[in-house]
Amino acid sequence: MQRTLSILKPDVTRRNLTGAVNGRIESAGLRIIAQRRIHLSLEQAQQFYAVHQERSFFNDLCTFMSSGPVVVQVLQGENAVEQYRKIMGATNPANADEGTIRRDFAESIEANSVHGSDSFENAGIEIAFFFSQMDIVG
Ligand code: CMP
Repeated sequence: MQRTLSILKPDVTRRNLTGAVNGRIESAGLRIIAQRRIHLSLEQAQQFYAVHQERSFFNDLCTFMSSGPVVVQVLQGENAVEQYRKIMGATNPANADEGTIRRDFAESIEANSVHGSDSFENAGIEIAFFFSQMDIVG
């Protein structure tokens, strides 16, 4: 059993697609064992995405992520990190496989509907950014 951090981005909440995306997650065998809807401040988005701070898209990314509500989640399942990345699809929806969340829902590489941790190690760090142990009911 593994855990990963998921964020449903502002393009999902704006279009009322939280349930639709959660359906994809649960159909893939992942369990949502913690979930909270929040509105990130610009500073919180900058802190969360600090690893990307040298990238050209950093400012736009953080502005977008703080532009509306997001849903932060902990997902649990076998191989959860890799399994979630598989059903999310490629970062750029234009390159995402058919049937993936980003292919079916994303608007652009920036408004790409979902974030998922990219490694087991980062999953631990990202989960701890948003959740305490008491919030997580596995
Ligand atoms: P995410 O998995 O949340 O991690 C960083 C995000 O930066 C990524 O998804 C994209 O939404 C966003 N982003 C915007 N522009 C780019 C780009 N050119 N390359 C990679 N990621 C980008």
